Amino acid sequence: MSTKKHLYIFGYEVFEDELCKLESNAIFNQKEKDKLLISDIKVEPSSSAFIKKRIDISSASEDYTTLIKKVKKENIQMEGFKVEYFVFEGDSTEYPNRLEKLKDIGYCIEGNPDYHSPTVMYALCCYKGVWCFGKTIKNNFNWNKHKQKPWSYSNSIGMNIAKALVNIAAQGSKEKMLLDACCGVGTILLEACFAGNKIEGCDINWKVCNKSRKNLAHFNYSATVYCTDIKDINRKYDAAIIDLPYNLLSRATEQDVAHIIESTAQITNRLVIVSTTDITTQIQNTGFNISDNCSVRKRGKTNFERRIWVCEKNKSDKHIR
Ligand SMILES: C[S@@+](CC[C@H](N)C(=O)[O-])C[C@H]1O[C@@H](n2cnc3c(N)ncnc32)[C@H](O)[C@@H]1O
Repeated sequence: MSTKKHLYIFGYEVFEDELCKLESNAIFNQKEKDKLLISDIKVEPSSSAFIKKRIDISSASEDYTTLIKKVKKENIQMEGFKVEYFVFEGDSTEYPNRLEKLKDIGYCIEGNPDYHSPTVMYALCCYKGVWCFGKTIKNNFNWNKHKQKPWSYSNSIGMNIAKALVNIAAQGSKEKMLLDACCGVGTILLEACFAGNKIEGCDINWKVCNKSRKNLAHFNYSATVYCTDIKDINRKYDAAIIDLPYNLLSRATEQDVAHIIESTAQITNRLVIVSTTDITTQIQNTGFNISDNCSVRKRGKTNFERRIWVCEKNKSDKHIR
């Protein structure tokens, strides 16, 4: 554990548990446990709705005195710093002792602390018996501005799901080219652009395409939106997201759903599909495997469930036709 560099602290509601685990598995190749995860992979917390903080561990030791010596050796000179103590499972350090330890760290740093508006946050914690110190990077939640997008859709997915879909599709990479195959008013496109992912959108309905373009322009994001049936997209993508029509506002028959999945399967090897029904057969018909899946309910609604399916092209058939 001492070789791993980043400790992630997650926060989510009970109904988002499966989605958060699906996302962390796609990004880190491991599921968060007890809302914590340690990894060498560096991810910006604000690109996820569930990562609240990342601690960049610069010193670690099983022995507390050794940790303090290591922190001193870092020769940190910082005005306006603040140190926070994080209590994790298995750490029985009492409150007064925790304050003493915060002072120990404070004395290792050259500069005056600022508890009210700190310039830099540091963390001290004991994770699985190892004392860790490092800089804390918080989720800035600036993406909440997307709530004020000019155009919405009453059955659009929420921002938390949209952010997770982007991360699941891109597997934490900012280099992969993504497609939102049924982009509607662009909820997913906005989150991808905010996080610095490469994405394009497509929708058969010109009205929602225009709204999607206006939403993107409102936040000064640029992403191409194709107003066409997905079957007419010829470009290849590293991964595609499909938020299938739910038969509510955007009516779709079983054939329409099969058509959308099969057409998108022609232009990528990785699909992340959102549905309200069981689409196992439609996925299998495309020659894709379901590598992971989860269910997401709406806050307070037990009778509306969405399923998210992560699908990969069968290894023996990996070339894109
Ligand atoms: C559930 S909505 C997507 C909502 C979107 N995620 C949002 O947040 O606004 C499904 C969309 O699929 C589009 N659609 C239906 N059939 C399509 C097709 N063959 N090709 C492309 N888009 C299609 C509909 O116009 C609708 O906007």
